[in-house]
Amino acid sequence: MNIKNLHIVGSGLMGGGIAQVGITHGFEVTLIDISEAALNKAKAVMEKSFKKEISRGKMTEEAAEEAFRHLTLTTDMNAAKDADLVIESVSEKMELKKKIFSQLSEICREDIILATNTSAISITALASVVKNPSRVCGMHFVSPVPKMDLMEIVRCIATSAETIALAREVGTAMGKRCIISKDSPAFILNRMLDPMANEAMLLVELGIGSIEDVDAAMRIGLNHPMGPLEIMDAAGLDIFLDAMTAIHQETNDPKYKPSLLVRNMVRIGWLGKKAGKGFYVYHADGTKTPNPDINNII
Ligand SMILES: NC(=O)c1ccc[n+]([C@@H]2O[C@H](COP(=O)([O-])OP(=O)(O)OC[C@H]3O[C@@H](n4cnc5c(N)ncnc54)[C@H](O)[C@@H]3O)[C@@H](O)[C@H]2O)c1
Repeated sequence: MNIKNLHIVGSGLMGGGIAQVGITHGFEVTLIDISEAALNKAKAVMEKSFKKEISRGKMTEEAAEEAFRHLTLTTDMNAAKDADLVIESVSEKMELKKKIFSQLSEICREDIILATNTSAISITALASVVKNPSRVCGMHFVSPVPKMDLMEIVRCIATSAETIALAREVGTAMGKRCIISKDSPAFILNRMLDPMANEAMLLVELGIGSIEDVDAAMRIGLNHPMGPLEIMDAAGLDIFLDAMTAIHQETNDPKYKPSLLVRNMVRIGWLGKKAGKGFYVYHADGTKTPNPDINNII
């Protein structure tokens, strides 16, 4: 494979996770963000994760040091001129992503893949601002990226077969099981997961079940590793709301209308684990308890 230099734009929860997998699977990774603080946070998260792996005997100190030798952090978007593949993973906003894609179209070599990690934004719309749209595809990772072994490759109306084949090669080299989806709102995984989580939120909003019981229903009743509210707290309720809004706008199907409860939680800033509060409250000792404010509202 000729793809060595992997550039990731956006060093948040997902971009940082993709970078971590990249540097532990033989890629030279450049992580680009407008925020120096976000870049440093991404590196600190990787350090913490490696420390955990080392303490469990799953990684050596030397391997962690070696991995960091393959990581470059920068706020300079022009660094993407050296990329063999770019994965965009900035916030889930159409106009922002379009701006990044049109910048990348100017900066990068014309033969490389420009991929997006978007959860729900139209890949076709992003391809429309790129000079050669046949090289645009989705490479949709699952959070937490180092632990979850699925990657959805998304083919838009203009994506070439060669782009899909290369994306699959890269995904496989990163240890992921790749599945292919047509460019359709929320692709395959979230098209199933998001309405389930929305229904879980509605059950809580209507007072039909408590936060803990709704999660227990799926965890214990169906052996899911996490309940839907726990999953959405971990992913970020703002990210979930953006995704549901995009699916709803695109399909006009009422089953995708985001619940009032989640819209209000995002308005007030209860975004989930990253904010310390969502459906659960996250304590300093690593434990969590159901958010009493939600029970009070209900
Ligand atoms: N959170 C999840 O579980 C999840 C799962 C799969 C896919 N995604 C998708 O991944 C993408 C990123 O999500 P996230 O959860 O990592 O978000 P996040 O908010 O944690 O990170 C977004 C990052 O983008 C950076 N950014 C914003 N504007 C930028 C610009 N102009 N140039 C460079 N960097 C810029 C921000 O500084 C921030 O660090 C979204 O498209 C989201 O839908 C998220």
